[in-house]
Amino acid sequence: MEKIVVANLKMNLEENDAINYVKVINSKKYNVNLFIAPSNIYLEKFKSNNYNLTAQNVSSYEDGDYTGEVSAKQLKSLGASAVIIGHSERRKLFNETNEDINNKIKIALENDLIVLLCIGSDFKSLSKEKEYIDNELSKDLMGISDYSNIIIAYEPELYIGTGNSLEIENISEIYKYIKEKYNMKVIYGGSVSLKNTNEIVNACDGIIVGKMSQKASEFVKLLDIL
Ligand code: 13P
Repeated sequence: MEKIVVANLKMNLEENDAINYVKVINSKKYNVNLFIAPSNIYLEKFKSNNYNLTAQNVSSYEDGDYTGEVSAKQLKSLGASAVIIGHSERRKLFNETNEDINNKIKIALENDLIVLLCIGSDFKSLSKEKEYIDNELSKDLMGISDYSNIIIAYEPELYIGTGNSLEIENISEIYKYIKEKYNMKVIYGGSVSLKNTNEIVNACDGIIVGKMSQKASEFVKLLDIL
C-alpha cells in the first residue's frame, strides 16, 4: 500500500515562493499518497490532482460571525480534502483544548475532510507515552466512533524541528500500539530528513514533514527516494 507523506508548510512561503513550489512539485509524479498543507491564503494556488490539498487548521464553529476563522465548509469549497488538527504548536502556542480539537474533528468529518490528528508529548518513556496517547485520544475523539477518515500523526514534541528524530524502535512500538488498539493509520513526524525517511516510513504508515518539506527542491529529493 502507498505510504502517506504530509508536507506541513506551516507559516512559510510568500506568494512567489508558493507559485514556484507548486510548479516544482507538479513537475513529477510520486509513489506516495501525498498531502500538502500550505497557509490558507494559498489553497487556491495549490490546487492540483497530484496530491490532497490540505489545510493546517479549521474552525471549531460551523459558520457565522467568527472574525479571522475559516470553516470546514469554506475549506471544502476551495478544494481541500484534508486538514491537520491539533498540531502541538496549536495546542501549546494557541491554547487549543481537547474540547476545541474534538469539535474541529467532528466538523471536519461531517464535511468529508480527512483528519490528520496530531498527538505526542515529550516522550519520557514508552509506557508514559502510551498512557498519554490513550488519555489524549479519549478526549480528542470523544463521541466519534468511525475512525476511517482519521490518520494519527504521532509527533513527539521534543523531536520537532531539532534535527533528531525519535529512535526507530520507539516509533515502531508506538505505531503498533495505536494501530492495534484504535485501528487507525499512523504516521510519524519530528525531524524527518533525507537520512532517516526510508527507515521511518518502513516502521509506520508514513511521515509528516515540517522543515524538510518547506523548500520544494529539497522535498522532491525526499519524495524521490520513497
Ligand atoms: P519538523 O519536520 O521540522 O521537525 O516538523 C515536524 C512537524 O511539526 C510536522 O507537522
